[in-house]
Amino acid sequence: MLLSYLLILVFVSPCLCVRWPIQIQDSSYNVMDFGAHGDGNSDDSQAFLSAWQKTCETQDTPTLVIPAEGVFMVKNTTLKGPCNATQVNIQLQGKIVAPSKDAWEKGVTIEDNSFLIMISHVNGLAVDGTGGQIDGLGSDWWKCRTCPRPKVINFESCNDVKVNNLTITNSPRAHISVDYCKGAIFSNISIYAPGDSPNTDGFDIHGSSNISIQDSTIQTGDDCIAINGGCSYINVTGVFCGPGHGISVGSLGRNGANDTVEQVYVRNCTFNNTQNGARIKTFENGGIEVSDVIFCGFHGTSAKDLAINLACSSSGCFNIVLDNIEIVSSLPGKPAYCSCSNAHGTSTSTEPSCSNCLMK
Ligand SMILES: *[C@@H]1O[C@H](CO)[C@@H](O)[C@H](O)[C@H]1NC(C)=O
Ligand SMILES: *[C@@H]1O[C@H](CO)[C@@H](O)[C@H](O)[C@H]1NC(C)=O
Ligand SMILES: *[C@@H]1O[C@H](CO)[C@@H](O)[C@H](O)[C@H]1NC(C)=O
Ligand SMILES: *[C@@H]1O[C@H](CO)[C@@H](O)[C@H](O)[C@H]1NC(C)=O
Ligand SMILES: *[C@@H]1O[C@H](CO)[C@@H](O)[C@H](O)[C@H]1NC(C)=O
Ligand SMILES: *[C@@H]1O[C@H](CO)[C@@H](O)[C@H](O)[C@H]1NC(C)=O
Ligand SMILES: *[C@@H]1O[C@H](CO)[C@@H](O)[C@H](O)[C@H]1NC(C)=O
Ligand SMILES: *[C@@H]1O[C@H](CO)[C@@H](O)[C@H](O)[C@H]1NC(C)=O
Ligand SMILES: *[C@@H]1O[C@H](CO)[C@@H](O)[C@H](O)[C@H]1NC(C)=O
Repeated sequence: MLLSYLLILVFVSPCLCVRWPIQIQDSSYNVMDFGAHGDGNSDDSQAFLSAWQKTCETQDTPTLVIPAEGVFMVKNTTLKGPCNATQVNIQLQGKIVAPSKDAWEKGVTIEDNSFLIMISHVNGLAVDGTGGQIDGLGSDWWKCRTCPRPKVINFESCNDVKVNNLTITNSPRAHISVDYCKGAIFSNISIYAPGDSPNTDGFDIHGSSNISIQDSTIQTGDDCIAINGGCSYINVTGVFCGPGHGISVGSLGRNGANDTVEQVYVRNCTFNNTQNGARIKTFENGGIEVSDVIFCGFHGTSAKDLAINLACSSSGCFNIVLDNIEIVSSLPGKPAYCSCSNAHGTSTSTEPSCSNCLMK
């Protein structure tokens, strides 16, 4: 049961873009030279693994190339490090596709942590997805909302990662999951899945620090970005979110877990047609304490008249600061309002006002 959560339903201002440094390349390894078919039907997983092994062994700055002409079907493919080089590049120019649901399930048990591609323990990785795409072909999986479903790409225990210009569509479950990574910049990432596709989070981040997601568009059926337990120093800047459930911290404290999330900055983001804007979700029995949260500069319309909801458990939320907020309700004759319970903090220049329900 979600007992204490804070949410705001809104629009903000549009995205900004930044330039990306061009990488210098030495040796490159093209998956076609390692037996890939690139015909969209043959399983190219083994070719990817062989090409990756060469890439990862190389001492200078190697590049794994997935070329533009091909459509590469892979599944359960782990690109494992650590590698010899301090910088490793992946150039995704072609298309990577998941197998059909039936083909994927043949002879194996799918779990929620199954994946198309896992990148594990690779440091100094730069992924350039210019011209490329990954399609998770999720529609057959979405029909069963309670069945285990794989995700598209999982970065696990990778430090100093850069991912730029990558498009991912239709994951059976989360599109990009980032676990136990330190230092990553994701920029100009485009993620698309239907607004009614279940659990198709854009990014799911867990146990990671110093992560930036910037100048990206995320349109899916669940959280655009979910920032889970063990995360710190996470910046989300210039993200267009919607449809989707918004940008969320949590859920924290599931089954009594001692989850900590600190130093999350969500700035210059746009929420369009999302279920929530920015929210924090905690389970009551986790004893999770919410404090020092600033909501500033939210402007737009809310589909519900309850535009700001600071619903804290009896242990309270502290130092909640609301400033420069203007949200109007799109329901005729039902003005926007703010609701709080057990919330302590201040509200200035905020419409709807929360000053009658926020405690000192
Ligand atoms: C690193 O390079 C050495 C020498 O070429 C090679 O023996 C070793 O397997 C490489 N290590 C990895 C992790 O690829
Ligand atoms: C995935 O590949 C690993 C080997 O890398 C294997 O042990 C595992 O059974 C495979 N899982 C699925 C679901 O195919
Ligand atoms: C990203 O894509 C744009 C447009 O295709 C291209 O101009 C830019 O160079 C790409 N960035 C990188 C790092 O390749
Ligand atoms: C971002 O990626 C899209 C394609 O996915 C491309 O058209 C656009 O030019 C890229 N923008 C930048 C700033 O690289
Ligand atoms: C954060 O990550 C960036 C990019 O990976 C890296 O350059 C920087 O050194 C990291 N900062 C800290 C404090 O770890
Ligand atoms: C996040 O933003 C802060 C303030 O602008 C900056 O100091 C920090 O380096 C950024 N961290 C990342 C991971 O981008
Ligand atoms: C919860 O985790 C934090 C950070 O790791 C730690 O400081 C704190 O002591 C833990 N609390 C409990 C009750 O385990
Ligand atoms: C957000 O946008 C404002 C106005 O365009 C800009 O001045 C500011 O630097 C941006 N902040 C970040 C963190 O990108
Ligand atoms: C915002 O959402 C509405 C309703 O779904 C849609 O019609 C509109 O195209 C979206 N705007 C943008 C900029 O995507």
